[in-house]
Amino acid sequence: MESRLPVSDIAAPERAPEGRARIDWAWSEMPVLRRLYERFQREAPLAGLRIGGCLHITTETANLARVLVAGGAQVALCASNPLSTQDDVAAALVRDFGVRVYARRGEGTDTYYRHIHQVIAHHPQITLDDGADLISELHKRHPGQLNEILGSTEETTTGVIRLRAMARDGALRVPVVAVNDALTKHLFDNRYGTGQSALDGILRATNILLAGRCFTVAGYGWVGRGIARRARGLGAKVIVGEVEPLRALEAAMDGFEVMPLRQAAARSDFMVTATGDKHVIDAPHFAVMKDGCVLANAGHFDVEINIPALRQLAVDCSRPRRHVEEFVLRDGRRIRLLAEGRLVNLVAAEGHPAAVMDMSFANQAQVVAWLAREGRRLPHRVHPVPDDIDRAVARLKLDTLGLEIDQLTPEQARYLQSWREGT
Ligand code: ADE
Repeated sequence: MESRLPVSDIAAPERAPEGRARIDWAWSEMPVLRRLYERFQREAPLAGLRIGGCLHITTETANLARVLVAGGAQVALCASNPLSTQDDVAAALVRDFGVRVYARRGEGTDTYYRHIHQVIAHHPQITLDDGADLISELHKRHPGQLNEILGSTEETTTGVIRLRAMARDGALRVPVVAVNDALTKHLFDNRYGTGQSALDGILRATNILLAGRCFTVAGYGWVGRGIARRARGLGAKVIVGEVEPLRALEAAMDGFEVMPLRQAAARSDFMVTATGDKHVIDAPHFAVMKDGCVLANAGHFDVEINIPALRQLAVDCSRPRRHVEEFVLRDGRRIRLLAEGRLVNLVAAEGHPAAVMDMSFANQAQVVAWLAREGRRLPHRVHPVPDDIDRAVARLKLDTLGLEIDQLTPEQARYLQSWREGT
C-alpha cells in the first residue's frame, strides 16, 4: 500500500526556498524546541517510529516535525484546516526535512479528507491531532489499524472535548494525551498566542482602526480572555458575551462590559467568536447588527457563526478585500465576514507566534517520546500531560529567556507540606 502512495501532495514545490527561510526564522524564536532537537538527535527516542500528524502546516509545525525527525521518526503530515496551510512551508518540509506532506491551502472537503487518509495509509504508530479529525477518521473508517497505535496527542480545546465525548461513550480505543490541557500550553498559546494572532488576522484582513470601536468577544475561556485584552490594548471598547456565570463574573471584574450577545450585536463594530460551540452568532444577531459589522471566528471549527443563515438573508455578496466577504441585507446593512468563518488567526495571519508555539510543541515532542515508551501500558482514555513534562517546559522556557527564580528553602518546603504549624 505504502509504495503506491504519493510521497506528498503539495501545491507549490518551487516555493521551498521561501518556506525554508521562514521556518528558520521561526526556529530562532523556538529555543526550547532547539534544545529538544539536540537531545533527540543524541538519544533517538523515536527511532524507526511512524508518526502521523493532522496539524496546521505552519513554520512552527515544521519545526516540531524537524525535532521528531531528529529523534528518528518518519513523519507524515496533513492539514487540520483546509485554509491554514502555508504552501511554501509544505514545500520546504518535503524538500529539506524528508517529511511527507499532504496539504494544499484552499483544498476542498474531499481533498481534506483524502489527505487525512493518505496519512493513515502510512500506518502511523503515534498520531498528533489539532481538532481530532485524524483519530476520529481512524476510529470511523480504519478501526483495524487502531491496535497499531501506541498513543495520540491532541493540541486544541475543541479536540479534547470531542475525545472526552468518545471516551464517555466507550468508543475511544487508543490512549490520548490532552496536550491542550498542559499549563505551559493553554495559559500561553490559547491566551497570548490567539490573543495576538487573532487581532493580527483581523487587522491584516480589514486594516480598520480599532481605537474607539466597539469590539465584542463571544466566550471568555483562555482564547476569549486573550482576545479581549489585546482588543482593549488597541483602544477598543470591549464587550464580553459568556454563558458560564463564573467566567462572566471574571470578565466583569476584569473590567469588560458583559451582556447577552443580542444586545452586544446592536452596538458592535466587531464580533469575534471563541466558544467552541455552534451558531453562537445567528439570525437574531444579524437582524440587529450595525451596518458594517465585522465578524470573525477564533474557534477551531467554522460553525460558530451561522454562515448558511447569513447567506440566506443576504441579497448581495462581494469580496472587497482578500479574506473579506461582504453580505448586503435587504435593508441595505452590510455584514463583513472574515476568513469564511474559519480560524481568522491562521487564515488571515500566520497563526500563533513561534515563541508560544515553542512551549506547545515542546510539550508535544516530549509527550510523543513518552508515548513511544509508555503508550502500550496506558489505558484507552484521555490522559493529562505528565506533570514533570509540563514543569520541565516551564523551566526550560524560563532558562532560555534568561530568567532565574528563587528556590524554596528546605524549611519552607517542609512548612508547605505540614499541617502542624499555625499561628
Ligand atoms: N495553532 C495556532 N497557531 C499555530 C501555529 N502557528 N502553528 C501551528 N498550529 C497553530
